[in-house]
Amino acid sequence: MMHAKITAVSSYVPEQVITNKWFEDKIETQGEWIVSRTGISERRFAAKNQFTSDLCIKAVENILRENPAVPIKDVDFIIVATTTADQVMPSMASRVQNNFQIPNTGCIDLMAACAGFVYGIILAKGLIASGTHKKILVIGAETLSKFTDFSDRTSCILFGDAAGVALIEPSDKAGIWSSVTGTDGSHGNDLYLTQNNQVINGEQVVVNGKIHQNGRVVYKWAVQNMSQKIMELLAVNNLKLADLNWIILHSANLRIIEAVATAINYPLSQMLTSIELFGNTSSASIPLAWDLAAKAGKVKMGDKAVLLGFGGGLTYAGVIVEI
Ligand code: UT7
Repeated sequence: MMHAKITAVSSYVPEQVITNKWFEDKIETQGEWIVSRTGISERRFAAKNQFTSDLCIKAVENILRENPAVPIKDVDFIIVATTTADQVMPSMASRVQNNFQIPNTGCIDLMAACAGFVYGIILAKGLIASGTHKKILVIGAETLSKFTDFSDRTSCILFGDAAGVALIEPSDKAGIWSSVTGTDGSHGNDLYLTQNNQVINGEQVVVNGKIHQNGRVVYKWAVQNMSQKIMELLAVNNLKLADLNWIILHSANLRIIEAVATAINYPLSQMLTSIELFGNTSSASIPLAWDLAAKAGKVKMGDKAVLLGFGGGLTYAGVIVEI
């Protein structure tokens, strides 16, 4: 079986900085409340005429500029994880294909909310292991600001727009190890976005094309389950916490990350985050945190990291990677 490895990572964030003060002028909130409950100081919003496909393309331009040896024309599969696509079809992946004129590549979008990027990595590993593909781009990209209900003060302060990208290639040594995935669909109504069906799990929901969440339920579910899943992931890979250099848990809320670190007794300084300056960027949050840490000189070749995403479903996906 062919092994797979993440050989490059990059990201893109839009220019428009939205501070907590911006919300103080619009809803009943305080900057200190937002920081104390979420750890978020700022986030970025895409411009009015800038959509998820544009963010994907910018992230790919960045990975190409930073890794001039990456042969974009040889990319043979593109997976875009997003819940905020410009349109349902064509896929965001096919928009990337067209922009870079990649001659022969499979293109799919993947919808697993904030867990989407990690699901993409797991699928890319499988395609490479099967021997059918050799150069796969996995992109997590969101323009959540276009799907945010700005009258809901409990959720609107959380979200930001961003894109992250990873290149997956064959390697002699395993760089993407065993994974864990799972879903509890009974929580479908606790985090949803619909502009079509008004019934989820037999219950009426709000059909306005905006994100709705039961923050407290998701918070508790995440802390309880993600702590356990990190330990399961270590067990299936025959590793101990001390073998890890980093944990990159989806940056949904800094308090969730702190609570998970405390629950498993892991140093917070080794939990890589993107939440503080970029908010909750859903499927982009994990590659963004990785890229920020790599550019800050923290993440080094040979490091071992847990990537663990969770979100609407409620679903989760985790994998251990060697950087
Ligand atoms: O990536 C997708 C997954 N999503 C998540 O992981 C979200 C997880 N949940 C959370 O991050 C948190 O639950 C929130 C940040 C959404 C909310 O924080 P919380 O500490 O759970 O607050 P809460 O909803 O329990 O509300 C506490 C209080 C309430 O007031 P009362 O009822 O105690 O008087 C809220 O009305 O805080 C109030 N509140 C606010 N106050 C000022 C809620 N939102 C705000 C706000 N500013 N923006």
